[in-house]
Amino acid sequence: MRGPFRIALAGLGHVGGGVAQILLTRGRELAQRAGRPLELVAVCARERSKPRRIDVSAIPWIGDAVALARTDADLVVEVIGGEGDPALSLIEAALNAGKAVVTANKALLAFEGARLAALAEDHAVPLRFEAAAAGGIPIVKGLRQSLITYGIDAVHGILNGTCNYILTQMEATGRSFADVLAEAQARGYAEADPELDVGGVDAAHKLSLLAALAFGVPPDMRAIHVEGIRHISRADIAFAREFNYRIKLLGIARQTPHGLDQRVQPAMVKLGTPLADVDGVFNAVVAHAGPAGAFTFEGRGAGEEPTTSAVISDIVDIARGESGPAFGRPAKDLRPLPQASPEAHICRYYLRFDVRDVPGVLADIAGHLSCEDVSIESMIQRGRNPGEPVAVVMVTHDAPETAVTRALQAIVSSDRVLGPPCMIPIEAG
Ligand SMILES: NC(=O)c1ccc[n+]([C@@H]2O[C@H](COP(=O)([O-])OP(=O)(O)OC[C@H]3O[C@@H](n4cnc5c(N)ncnc54)[C@H](OP(=O)(O)O)[C@@H]3O)[C@@H](O)[C@H]2O)c1
Repeated sequence: MRGPFRIALAGLGHVGGGVAQILLTRGRELAQRAGRPLELVAVCARERSKPRRIDVSAIPWIGDAVALARTDADLVVEVIGGEGDPALSLIEAALNAGKAVVTANKALLAFEGARLAALAEDHAVPLRFEAAAAGGIPIVKGLRQSLITYGIDAVHGILNGTCNYILTQMEATGRSFADVLAEAQARGYAEADPELDVGGVDAAHKLSLLAALAFGVPPDMRAIHVEGIRHISRADIAFAREFNYRIKLLGIARQTPHGLDQRVQPAMVKLGTPLADVDGVFNAVVAHAGPAGAFTFEGRGAGEEPTTSAVISDIVDIARGESGPAFGRPAKDLRPLPQASPEAHICRYYLRFDVRDVPGVLADIAGHLSCEDVSIESMIQRGRNPGEPVAVVMVTHDAPETAVTRALQAIVSSDRVLGPPCMIPIEAG
């Protein structure tokens, strides 16, 4: 067996604590897998005196995260988090010092991924991030190493467990978004500041990494259209069921004849298709690999054990000698592709309007849609008590996103339409 492979660990929180625990308690199995012992040679966190569930008192403690790059470690694990320092400076310093890096930090890689991948190649060391996209699901390896023969036409998936939990609970209990979010926060499924999750940004961070692996583009948050789930109501979820759909927050990156389309947004997913049955905090990604077909990866996208599992798998790969570019292609070959314009985004749409129950309102709505060549496939109108608003729900035929948006802008100007309409794309298949 070769000599020990030395690891420095930055962060001892949910993920780092789990990584330390596995390294310190599963040495024999890991050594068999890696072909050499894995040795934790340094740790760092913010507060040394904080009680931890794993005893790291025997491991040298380094007070400054960036100084881990100056230890004799072969590999640095960054599980501090955050887009900036110290995580960024630590990764840069480690790569510059010729050390391999494993990180779970999607927020940082979404902005710095291409530059850090180039830095890793300059120093001929691997940079790995399996845990950064969909936690324990091996989708990064799937796209980097396995599904490479025919290229990827599209990846789409449920990339944020908090949003999926909220939508699943809204459907199961009939409660409002605000109620379910409060409960998710109480149970620890949602952060005190939930905006990164419910606003769609966390899913976009992950999508930027999947798109880079799938299409050879640099991760680029600016290329992603991002919408969250705050505007989804109980009524939309109930209507979706009537049309045999469920509403899911999807991250989608797909090659179209007009360019690469990258978006995070709530979408109607047909019952019986793989993503429709992914519930609660689970994540799932479907990769369409040309003639090889579609592959569905499903599992826990967050949490200590799944994320630790992904980090440890990266460490073992590197200890065994696996190298190669972070995004599966040399960083210099990561090139932006033309972006598909919203005009080119054509699909069926679910539309809901709350309207005053007065004659002519339906004709008004239909007229504005027709002016934009948007035709209606089906419609439901639900009367309420006299004087109360009525919900009008329509499903359109295929239409460009921009045409539907223009029609809605005209429709909301009517004083008979109450509040902003809800527009949700219907995913094919
Ligand atoms: N949690 C998940 O399920 C999950 C899933 C996928 C990816 N990730 C990613 O994994 C990373 C870590 O997440 P986490 O949930 O483990 O976070 P966490 O529980 O908040 O842990 C963060 C750790 O970093 C340490 N830290 C914070 N600031 C520091 C500083 N300036 N210098 C040194 N150490 C510092 C903290 O020290 P103290 O312990 O002393 O406070 C803590 O140990 C993030 O990038 C996250 O996006 C997490």
